[in-house]
Amino acid sequence: MDNFTFHNPTRLHFGRGQIAQLGRELPPQARVLLVYGGGSIRRNGVYDQVRGALEGRTVVEFAGIEPNPEYETLLRAALLGRQERVDWVLAVGGGSVIDGGKFIAAAVTLDPAIDPWLIVGNRTPLKTALPLGCVLTLPATGSESNFAAVVNRRQTQDKLSFKNPLVFPRFSVLDPQVTVSLPPRQIGNGIVDAFVHTVEQYLTVPTEARVQDRLAEGILQTLIEVGPQTLADPAQHEARANMMWAANQALFGLVGLGQVQDWATHAIGHELTALYGLDHAQTLAAILPALLRYRYDDKRAKLIQYGRRVWQLSGGEDEIAQRAIAATTDFFGQIGVATNLGAYGIDADAAAQAVAAQLIRHGRLRLGEYGRLAPDDCAAIVRMAG
Ligand code: NZQ
Ligand code: ZN
Repeated sequence: MDNFTFHNPTRLHFGRGQIAQLGRELPPQARVLLVYGGGSIRRNGVYDQVRGALEGRTVVEFAGIEPNPEYETLLRAALLGRQERVDWVLAVGGGSVIDGGKFIAAAVTLDPAIDPWLIVGNRTPLKTALPLGCVLTLPATGSESNFAAVVNRRQTQDKLSFKNPLVFPRFSVLDPQVTVSLPPRQIGNGIVDAFVHTVEQYLTVPTEARVQDRLAEGILQTLIEVGPQTLADPAQHEARANMMWAANQALFGLVGLGQVQDWATHAIGHELTALYGLDHAQTLAAILPALLRYRYDDKRAKLIQYGRRVWQLSGGEDEIAQRAIAATTDFFGQIGVATNLGAYGIDADAAAQAVAAQLIRHGRLRLGEYGRLAPDDCAAIVRMAG
């Protein structure tokens, strides 16, 4: 196990009715910038719960943060926040709204002489950020418990992230009840995203990080159980509660401690979203199975462990490893997320070239564990994902 330092300061309020905690978390004199997405929270009652809990505070609203949050939109929100002299940001939505909230929290207090695009990619140091609170409505990204954010810029086909402890949410509310209105596509997306977050930190090389391995295996097994249950029966509270907590724990920070990590599936996936507008999880479902096949020799030992412990496979070692990849692919398909680029109308050869060019443009020349994947390798993986 490698050395590590761990700190996660976000206070979590989990369970039914916990949106009421906003009334305790936000100071009575707070001037709150409430940011949300395309309006799902107005239709499912979350907006009314939030406004009720915020009673007495000055609230400035900004709606319309898109899936894959758009830089220009976030800039408009930050400008509004500055004009209205807000001193808190409250993000109510999925990963896109929460990531957007992180960018806005940083951009509102940024020196106006600095180009805010430099926040993305960590190209300017941040001195301050407004405090951020979150109400999560889509279990998937773990953004409610981490200090990363991904921002999209359609005009230049860039989808890039930044990380800074200043944008750790001060608190997040996780009420599984608010996920009842999720369409099946987003439930499938959430399961795949949480699954792949876990895999990127676990399915690499053996490191003797036994607690982290077993935590990863527990999260994966939970997702395999609750994914189909959540899709089949929206009324199953316990399935939803476990899905929400599993997705949170996948990117809370514990799984990857002391582990050799991968993240190449995500890096390739972000380029596919920037190029073709695919949902984040759709890119992951297509790329991960191809990447596992491409890196079979490097990942073989961990694939065998994964096959035995997560899928309860037995037999010869290579048989277990190969069947583990097949089981993963089948699982994504079973919960409704297609695992090849053709299903999304994308030509894999053209995409392979385009992804490699994007990775070079973004300076992402050595991906995966030990930096073994060059853009040509990534192009080969995209071709295999066809
Ligand atoms: O816009 P609204 O109306 O809110 O609708 C959203 C959106 O259309 C809808 N939705 C959310 N909660 C709902 C709901 N619909 C009905 N009922 C509810 N309770 O779902 C749609 C998708 O929302 P989005 O926030 O885009 O999805 P997700 O949570 O999957 O977030 C994806 C974004 O997060 C980034 C991705 O790259 C992508 O931009 N990620 C962020 C990470 C992080 N910060 O750590 C890590 C991830 O790997 C990921 O990259
Ligand atoms: Zn992800």
